[in-house]
Amino acid sequence: MAPDEIVGLLDLAETYVDLNRGADKKASVLRGRTQINLFFEPSTRTQMSFELAGKRLGADVLNMAVASSSTKKGETLIDTAMTLNAMHPDVLIVRHHDSGAVKLLSEKVNCSVINAGDGTHEHPTQALLDALTIRRTKGKIGGLLVAICGDVLHSRVARSNIHLLNSLGARVRLIAPPTLLPSAADRLGVEIFTDMKKGLIGCDIVMMLRLQTERMQGSFVPSIREYFHFFGLDRQKLALAKPDAFIMHPGPMNRGVEIDSEVADDIDRSLIRQQVEMGVAVRMACLDVLSRNLPEAGRNAP
Ligand code: CP
Repeated sequence: MAPDEIVGLLDLAETYVDLNRGADKKASVLRGRTQINLFFEPSTRTQMSFELAGKRLGADVLNMAVASSSTKKGETLIDTAMTLNAMHPDVLIVRHHDSGAVKLLSEKVNCSVINAGDGTHEHPTQALLDALTIRRTKGKIGGLLVAICGDVLHSRVARSNIHLLNSLGARVRLIAPPTLLPSAADRLGVEIFTDMKKGLIGCDIVMMLRLQTERMQGSFVPSIREYFHFFGLDRQKLALAKPDAFIMHPGPMNRGVEIDSEVADDIDRSLIRQQVEMGVAVRMACLDVLSRNLPEAGRNAP
């Protein structure tokens, strides 16, 4: 997305923040449309917020229960996609454990597809909601120094945030042990630190990442205790960032692994709950924009 398209989407999401805080949360831009959520990996935030977003915009929303679906009888991703496609959904929201699987699926269906996270590749709506959270808190994104800390290697959230924050003019630092940095990290337009205490100095935003043990084959850190000592965010390390620095985490958190409860729950410094709220608004904005390009758009216009 171009920077002005991102800004336009964030501006639209602001209107949905207001709608979501009101008593009547209903809009109708997706009235008559069918949205299917297809999550091959566990999710709380993304799946629930896409479901709420679709329902608040008036769509009929279905969640395919992958664990009890015919994928368990050996049906492939492509056959699953083509089966759903035959039911004429308008939008598929897809999360998959393989990088590139969502794009592959999108090429086999003739409805719109939104990537809700694919393997270690991308999680674009997470980056958008993070940007909205930062912009609402700091009043801007350009010129801020954002540290992304922890298991960058396995993080689709890190990749999407690096692209988005760079395109909106923020400076991005990656802070991680060498074993948890991608081999081509130096080509991502970021500064790299393997010493968290040095990397945090002067940061406006400290974005922590979960250790994604489910994606690890073998050992990437000597022990959880040692990892927390060197790379877990606690009050002492946070003091190295700017005095008005904020903490973010896409969730789910592993308390005592990458983040200490004392800072995670500090309502003056932690934006983690705001991130969840912005997730619904951003996903409503994405669905709204998409609805304008769906076939027969405008068919209900007077
Ligand atoms: N941040 C995020 O993607 O969380 P979920 O896995 O709960 O959706």
